[in-house]
Amino acid sequence: MAKVTWQLPDGSEISADVADGLNLMEGAVANNVPHVIGECGGCLSCATCHIYVHDDWRAKTGDMDDMEDAMLDATEADRTDNSRLSCQITASADLDGLVLIVPDPDA
Ligand code: FES
Repeated sequence: MAKVTWQLPDGSEISADVADGLNLMEGAVANNVPHVIGECGGCLSCATCHIYVHDDWRAKTGDMDDMEDAMLDATEADRTDNSRLSCQITASADLDGLVLIVPDPDA
């Protein structure tokens, strides 16, 4: 299990425990995190689960594959070096304390 914190564009935060094996799009949707939609259900074809991984956690969340890299070019908010598709990050004890930043849809 990982305690995950989503930092929202309005400055507020949502923290929740996400069970091992669930991806972090599923964790966001289950906890009503705004702006993380997960339209494709996690099959890497929508980019509506885009988040920014906090600098402190980039190494621990691992590398993206080529498909995720390509899909990140289709995000609504600007892509940065911290961009990931949260459906491609799986919760585990290694990610306990993870901080994700939710893109501002109006930016
Ligand atoms: S939920 Fe569609 S790409 Fe992540």
